[in-house]
Amino acid sequence: MKTEIGKDIEKARAILRAGGLVAIPTETVYGLAANALNPEAVAKIFEAKNRPRFDPLIVHISTFEDLERFFIQKDLRLNNIAKKIWPGPLTILHQKSEIIPDIVTAGLERVAIRIPDHPLTLALLSGLEFPVAAPSANPFNYVSPTSAKHVMDQLDGKIDYILDGGQSAVGVESTIIGMEGDELVVYRKGGTEIEKIRELFDGKIRIQTLSASNPSAPGMLKKHYSPQKKMLLFPSNFDISQTDISKTGFLRFKETMENIPWQFVLSPAGDLKEAASRLFEGLRYLDKLPIDTVYIELVPEKSLGLAINDRLKRTLGD
Ligand code: TXA
Ligand code: MG
Repeated sequence: MKTEIGKDIEKARAILRAGGLVAIPTETVYGLAANALNPEAVAKIFEAKNRPRFDPLIVHISTFEDLERFFIQKDLRLNNIAKKIWPGPLTILHQKSEIIPDIVTAGLERVAIRIPDHPLTLALLSGLEFPVAAPSANPFNYVSPTSAKHVMDQLDGKIDYILDGGQSAVGVESTIIGMEGDELVVYRKGGTEIEKIRELFDGKIRIQTLSASNPSAPGMLKKHYSPQKKMLLFPSNFDISQTDISKTGFLRFKETMENIPWQFVLSPAGDLKEAASRLFEGLRYLDKLPIDTVYIELVPEKSLGLAINDRLKRTLGD
C-alpha cells in the first residue's frame, strides 16, 4: 500500500467511506482514523498499529448533535464538563450504544468520546455520516506522533493517507474522565489540567491512572511509551564525570548543559505548555541518536506537568 500525505479533506473522506485508514491531525497528537461504525475498518487500525484487541479506542465526533445521535448520554455531568472544554483535549466515557461495534470498546460497557480541536479534522468530520475511531497514530507501545512526519516515519505503507495539519499544539493526549457513581474518575492525565476539571466539577474526584493489573486499558500500563534506548531518571545529584557523554542523551526541562553533545531541552523559558508540545518530539529525537542511554528529567508536578511526568515515567522500565 502506498501512503500518501496531503491536505485533501475530500480524499480523506472518500478513503474513510471506503473503509480505509487515514491519519488525522488533532491538537493533542495525530490519530489513526477509521469509520467507527464499520468493524472491518476498525480492525485495520489494530493491524496497522500492531495493537492488542483488548485496548479500546476513542471515538471522535465534531458536534454535540453527533453526541446525541450516536451515543447514549447517560451522564449529563460529563456533558456539562465537555461543553466547557470541547473542542479540546478531553475524552469522556459514556454508556455504549448498540451501534458502536464491540471492537471499538474492546467489549467494555462504556465508550470513549471526544471532539478534537483542529480545523482540518473538524472539517473532515463534519462532512462524514459516521464518527471515526482513532487511537494515537503510532505503533503500539511507542511514543505518540505530533507531526505528519512522525506518522510517516512509522506507518508508511500501512495506512492509506495522512492528513497533514502541521504540528500538534498541545502535544500530550487527552485527559480521560468518567463517572463511577457520584465520583468523577480521571483515567488518564492529559491535555486538560486536573485543576480545570476541579473548577468544572463540584464533587469528589479520584485519580486512577495506574492500572498495571488491568489489561483493558494499556494506556494506563506502567510502561507504555517505550523508546529503544535505556531510559533512566536524571537524579538531582547527577555526576557527569561518571558518564560516557558520547553515548548518553539528556532530556531536560529548561536547563541547557554545557559540553554535552546530545540533549533536548523542553522549554528554556520553563513553560509547561511549550514543554508538553515538544515532549514527544524530544523523545523521538533522542531515540534516533547513536547513543545507548537517555536520562530524563521530570518537570514541576503541576498543571500540564502532571501529564508530562506521567508520560516520562512510563518510558522507564521497572
Ligand atoms: O488525545 C487523544 O486522546 C488521542 C487523539 C488521537 O484523540 N488519542 C489517543 O488514543 O490517545 P489512544 O488509543 O492512544 O489512547 C486511548 C486510551 C486507551 O488506551 C484506553 O486507556 C482509553 O483510552 N480508553 C478508550 N476507551 C476506553 C473505555 N471504553 N474505557 C476505558 N478506557 C478507555
Ligand atoms: Mg496511544
